Amino acid sequence: MSLAYFKKEFVPLEQATVSVATHALNYGTGCFEGIRAYYNEEQDKLYILKLREHYERFVRSCSVMRIDLGYSVEQLITLTIELLSRQNFHQDVYIRPLAFKADPVIKVTLEGIHDEFAVFALPMGDYLPTNGIHVMVSSWRRLEDNAIPSRAKVTGSYVNTALAVTDAHLAGFDDAIFLTEGGHVAEGSAANLFMLRDGTLITPAVTDNILEGITRDSIMHLAQDIGLQVSVRPIDRSELYVCDELFLAGTGVQISPVTRIDHRNVGQGVIGPVTGRIQSRYHQAVRGQIPEYLDWLTVVK
Ligand SMILES: Cc1ncc(COP(=O)(O)O)c(C=O)c1O
Repeated sequence: MSLAYFKKEFVPLEQATVSVATHALNYGTGCFEGIRAYYNEEQDKLYILKLREHYERFVRSCSVMRIDLGYSVEQLITLTIELLSRQNFHQDVYIRPLAFKADPVIKVTLEGIHDEFAVFALPMGDYLPTNGIHVMVSSWRRLEDNAIPSRAKVTGSYVNTALAVTDAHLAGFDDAIFLTEGGHVAEGSAANLFMLRDGTLITPAVTDNILEGITRDSIMHLAQDIGLQVSVRPIDRSELYVCDELFLAGTGVQISPVTRIDHRNVGQGVIGPVTGRIQSRYHQAVRGQIPEYLDWLTVVK
């Protein structure tokens, strides 16, 4: 039975429900996180990846949306560990914390509305293929920070994602790449983007309307640790067509190599050596197989 923590208690997931008049359901006034926990079968341990970093971002998102969370990062960590240990998972899991404007109020505002918090967890495998995807540059633009803050993980913002990713799927692609209104590359539909050119790993800056990805940060460290030069700078669309390697990185997609873009091969049209190396180290790290990255992980007892 799947559990949720909702209204200060652990309940079966199907009992954690809201009214159709809920503010966040009507206006998208919520914030969420996506956190993965990886099961290591050999060790019989479940590792939560970057738990503290996700809740720190959650608190920042809530502050942008004037959501009064009512829990500290420490309390959120404790609750999440308890949620997982109560369910005794022996498989990979996706954890979804959600904070939202909960009152049944017909008024578009962030003020004077009671906020709720919930967290639940479900088994989850790959979100996108990890053996090479074909992406398109979307005709939809990534939301502008001055329209909907792009560094906050706001529920309503994901209309932007849904529009782009649905068009990509209907056109036969695996995912969409967003450009900014200014024409630079921002990110994938729900993942940050890395490009390799002449041996340097390049990713757009946090001022290019990206979500400040936690995996992005991990990959920048991991890349430097294996001796790669990492550069944060604007990326032009056509650089994507001439780069040596390209991949998406995010909690959901993990490391998803892009082998084709807009009907052109990336490099040789297969997973590049650098991407392959980063991908395999990442997969080992998240399952607790690389001692130097154990501090990424929280063990569920
Ligand atoms: C829009 C967007 N960008 C980037 C990411 C990657 O962020 P993270 O690595 O923190 O999961 C996500 C994933 O959640 C996302 O939804």
